Amino acid sequence: MKLAATGRAVRLAWSKRSGTAIGARLRVEARPQQQLRFQSTVVLQTPIIEHNSKTRSLEIDGKSHAIDEWTNVPPSILSFLPRNLHLRPSHPVSITRQVIERSFPSPTYTHYNDIHPIVTVAQNFDSLGFPQDHPGRSRTDTYYINKDTVLRTHTSAHEAEIFRDNKSEGYTISADVYRRDAIDRSHYPVFHQMEGSRMWDRRKVPGGDIVKAVWADLERLPKHDLEVEDPNPTIHPERNPLQGEHHSSEEVEAIAAHLKRSLEGMVVELFSRAKKAAVAAGNTNADVMEPLKVRWVEAYFPFTSPSYELEVFWQGDWLEILGCGVTKQELLINAGVPDQLGWAFGVGLERVAMLLFSIPDIRLFWSKDPRFLSQFSTMENINTFVPFSRHPSCYKDVSFWLRSSSSSAGGGLKANAQDFHENDVMEVVRDIGGDLVEDVKLTDEFTHPVSGRRSLCYRINYRSLERTLTNEEANELHNSVRERLVKKLGVELR
Ligand code: DAH
Repeated sequence: MKLAATGRAVRLAWSKRSGTAIGARLRVEARPQQQLRFQSTVVLQTPIIEHNSKTRSLEIDGKSHAIDEWTNVPPSILSFLPRNLHLRPSHPVSITRQVIERSFPSPTYTHYNDIHPIVTVAQNFDSLGFPQDHPGRSRTDTYYINKDTVLRTHTSAHEAEIFRDNKSEGYTISADVYRRDAIDRSHYPVFHQMEGSRMWDRRKVPGGDIVKAVWADLERLPKHDLEVEDPNPTIHPERNPLQGEHHSSEEVEAIAAHLKRSLEGMVVELFSRAKKAAVAAGNTNADVMEPLKVRWVEAYFPFTSPSYELEVFWQGDWLEILGCGVTKQELLINAGVPDQLGWAFGVGLERVAMLLFSIPDIRLFWSKDPRFLSQFSTMENINTFVPFSRHPSCYKDVSFWLRSSSSSAGGGLKANAQDFHENDVMEVVRDIGGDLVEDVKLTDEFTHPVSGRRSLCYRINYRSLERTLTNEEANELHNSVRERLVKKLGVELR
């Protein structure tokens, strides 16, 4: 499913085997003063935890969480909680955060960078107006700690509380977010987002004139000569409506203009650094030297209207980098700040970092290999990543029949262990292969004409970023994957 643009391309790597600690106590290194461990010797398996009686709980960072039939977060995923790549000084995710924060300076913007990833379903979905049947709520897409608690799937989960806190006119939040998803070079189940927002208060702007105040603030933003395509109207009655009972069209024109100019400024800041890096690395190809082009497209998010996405033309393709819009007034009313109105955006940090540093594989962000980490220094010094190796791929196929009760590979909306979902396959593969798996692709699928059973074939690409894998190693991993698929998903191997 597409929760929204901004995160999906931004997933990272698995710490191999750390996730398979079934029934084990798991301790992981620190968020400062924080710990994570399993409290009992509960059999925690992936992707589905069999619920079996008694007081079973997870203790994470000193807090105990009951587990139930919704629990689907494996230990391998919990082991990412302390990593905080967005705060590691010379890490490319952190450098990207710092570059973006420059476009949203304090004191207008407060920067929140240390908000814990375990949130309530209410924070992650309800507070933002996600409908009950939104696919984002499904257990196939989201990691549930229990039926009321999830690993946040986006930084927007904190919008309501920060609006309520009302500390400054604007803010950014950078944080790790978690989504069950496909495996490939741009998807990883843990990644980082930055959320940003800017509000104006009807009671505080001169003469109560929001329109005038916003245009005046826009005038103070840095100008740019970026080529921007923006073919759609700011407001479209069906596709991108005004919140007519709360905002005038003049207000929304002003807020959208301020939003777009602010984000265009951010893109200019980012990509002029990327270009400098490419040129310094001797890459003066025509596509690098072409003037930067961006375009605005219409979008939909449950918590903004009108909504937009920003795409950047980069090395031959339009690439979506962020989602944004005019914040739904209900959200602000519910947060106790009914007189405020304004905009918000969310951007995937790894996706931007991959462009900024020319990093070809999202798994690399999680590498502890000094050959990766030592290549980055500060935001004043963006450099193009130099690949240190390209080890051979090892492709292995696995074909199986689904259980006859599994009728569809589409996203089940309920917590139904019988439903097959591709993300369950992905999780089995990740849990066993960790960062040794580069991608997993569905290569064949058919339905038996008589029995009606479905058969699927996946091709798994085993490739290490750090060394050459032997065929025996790949075989061993692959055999474990095959066994686990049978055990966990009840498939029949062909
Ligand atoms: N939360 C969205 C996502 O994860 C991104 C987003 C879109 C954030 C629009 C916003 C926004 O604040 O206004 O894809």
